[in-house]
Amino acid sequence: MAIIRLENEFSSNLTTKFSKVKMYHSSDIINFFNTSQKIQNIYNNIQKLLDKKYYAVLKNIDLQNDKTLFYHFSGLFGKVYPEIDYTDIKIDCPYTGCVSGYLIWHTDDAILGNKQPIYSTIYVIEEDPLKLPQNGILDIDDLVYYLEIHDKDFLDELLTRKLPMFSKGVHYYDNEKEDITIKQTLLYEEDNEIKVRFDLHRIKAYYFSKELIQSNEEKKFINKFLTLADKLKKTIYLEKHDFFIVNNRKTLHDRGECSLELNEDGSFNTREIFVGFVLE
Ligand SMILES: [Fe+2]
Repeated sequence: MAIIRLENEFSSNLTTKFSKVKMYHSSDIINFFNTSQKIQNIYNNIQKLLDKKYYAVLKNIDLQNDKTLFYHFSGLFGKVYPEIDYTDIKIDCPYTGCVSGYLIWHTDDAILGNKQPIYSTIYVIEEDPLKLPQNGILDIDDLVYYLEIHDKDFLDELLTRKLPMFSKGVHYYDNEKEDITIKQTLLYEEDNEIKVRFDLHRIKAYYFSKELIQSNEEKKFINKFLTLADKLKKTIYLEKHDFFIVNNRKTLHDRGECSLELNEDGSFNTREIFVGFVLE
């Protein structure tokens, strides 16, 4: 597994440092992250794992539940989209990130096609009360290797069959919700590599918004892909103070079901995370 855990004394020294750094002006936080030998050492090792495995977990890093620290820490890996999502789990939620049910395989912001974020980052503020949800990863190289052996025709179909997608704006929190419609293949070649982009919700949104019926053939094609993703998936459980980073063009991700703990005052204890998107 692509996991690095910070040794306890190292972690606690960083916690002390971060409790001061979070008070700094943004430019000084960036300067700290860019010049601290310890942070650069963490970054270099995570980047090496990312180059090999396309995902990595850094454990035992206390980012003080601070959005700005998370933003700049994610920024070590590239230019971060200005909005950082804070997500907890809710019973009624209009946004997919906070649903308690299973989150199906997807890449983030697939509607952007080749311009999807290169990395997605997650920081766990609070764990699921029952420690239920596994985060799933499908490495596209694993899928391609499997299909080259077992089903070359399906691999060709993944590279050539275009699927429609529809979205109002790119992000849930976009102010301008302009209609975006695209048709693109699920797998694509770029820089001599095979990459992926897929969002079933936005495919369904296309048919719903255009009042069209999706063909049974297309449903079967997508279902076959999802079944293969389940077969080849790797899973990890993310604990409190885990920083998770995944290559959003070389992998898909899903997430298992979450639980909710009800307090006497009517509030819930649930999994709470920050989510960031790293653009090139
Ligand atoms: Fe996602």
